[in-house]
Amino acid sequence: MVPLLLSVLVCGLMGHPPPWKEQQINMLMPGVKPTVPDTYLCKSIKMEDDHTYITGFIPNADASIAHHVLLYGCEEPGASPGQVWDCGEMTSKSAGHHAGPCKSGQSILYAWAMEAPRLTLPPDVSFNVGQATPTKYLVVQVHYKNVTKFLPPENGEDSSGLTLITTHVPTEKQAGVYIMLTAGSLPANTVEYFEVACEMRQDIEIIPFAFRTHAHSLGRVISGYRVRDGVWTEIGRKDPRLPEMFYNVTTPGLTVKRGDILAARCTMHDTTDHTVSIGATQNDEMCNFYIMYYVNKPPTLEANDYCMSAGPPTWYWKDYPDQEKLNLKGVPDTASVIPGANAPLKRNVSQVYFFNSNAEEEGMPDLLDESFADEIVNQAFDDLDPQDLMYLYELAEWQQQQREQQQRQREEEIKFRMLMRNQQV
Ligand SMILES: *[C@@H]1O[C@H](CO)[C@@H](O)[C@H](O)[C@H]1NC(C)=O
Ligand SMILES: *[C@@H]1O[C@H](CO)[C@@H](O)[C@H](O)[C@H]1NC(C)=O
Ligand SMILES: *[C@@H]1O[C@H](CO)[C@@H](O)[C@H](O)[C@H]1NC(C)=O
Repeated sequence: MVPLLLSVLVCGLMGHPPPWKEQQINMLMPGVKPTVPDTYLCKSIKMEDDHTYITGFIPNADASIAHHVLLYGCEEPGASPGQVWDCGEMTSKSAGHHAGPCKSGQSILYAWAMEAPRLTLPPDVSFNVGQATPTKYLVVQVHYKNVTKFLPPENGEDSSGLTLITTHVPTEKQAGVYIMLTAGSLPANTVEYFEVACEMRQDIEIIPFAFRTHAHSLGRVISGYRVRDGVWTEIGRKDPRLPEMFYNVTTPGLTVKRGDILAARCTMHDTTDHTVSIGATQNDEMCNFYIMYYVNKPPTLEANDYCMSAGPPTWYWKDYPDQEKLNLKGVPDTASVIPGANAPLKRNVSQVYFFNSNAEEEGMPDLLDESFADEIVNQAFDDLDPQDLMYLYELAEWQQQQREQQQRQREEEIKFRMLMRNQQV
């Protein structure tokens, strides 16, 4: 007993708090002054110890300045600790290299936006980070949407970020975040469904306890489900225009195990006069459903285990390979009901708009081919950042160009036929 006591005492004397004591780690911006709207700034710290357990988050941010604050876990950060770097989403197609939040092994641990209250993890649940885990660094990212405050005459600066509550005593249960997201586009003045579904392949049991939805301005309701034996059970459903925090799940205690399907739908209403695609800027859209879960016994899901689909007009739940298992008859009537409303927002994209997506396009990838879809998903989203959907953005643009070209061809064909008919008459 004595040596133990002694070593604890020595630790204490050397400035290390005893391991069971809670510690706070600040991850704040050092008085930054971004001058370009939609700037994303990142700052990293190395988790020096083998294991540190994060048991809570306290956001320190002013919603009028910071549009969101995200905490990423990384194997390797986008830049070394001590630096503040631009970890922005690409705003132009040609944006060449840029350092994202992580160089490798990226996962999202926490997200705060628009004055959301703080998330408390359930008792005995923590995120395990540190040198002996895949999360060796933490990166805080702040999105500065409106930079008026930093320009003359105010010339202000900002120290937004997060305070983490940590301990060195392992908690019994461990938390993780699973992300579901889609690509895709929706035409002007329509309601469209962005759908995604994946089967849980790892042989572990996760218990979702909080969920978060994210879209830009066109999202109306985002819902997520567990499908087991053809029965759909709601994990969460929210209007993404509400504060984008993690909310308690609809069905506490629900488990998800190998063989279950996780499915999510974003119902979007394009109120603009043009097609909007999933992409990285504020003018694009996003369809993300985050599930925060815990496991009673580690491991958690792999950090980059995402679920994503190509989205409309290429992929819907009806395109899921095992239809019997997904059982679309079981989709709850409320899947597209904005909480509080009494009727669903119905998809009303005209078939004409997305005509003939089977057209042969020589040398072009066939987006309906599943193995191709798998390949691009694996390749492009190996290290997916839900904010970093450049590849999809390009894909969506390409799809759009294809559609426009087909439309022109079709119009010309009609003109030609009319001409012929008129000549015959
Ligand atoms: C940006 O913030 C300033 C105050 O700092 C406010 O007056 C202005 O309306 C905001 N702009 C937008 C586009 O929200
Ligand atoms: C689709 O539904 C929305 C919402 O009800 C409506 O505003 C829009 O005009 C509809 N569009 C079409 C093409 O029917
Ligand atoms: C969320 O769940 C926790 C734990 O079950 C509970 O303490 C808390 O009050 C709930 N919050 C809301 C807003 O329902």
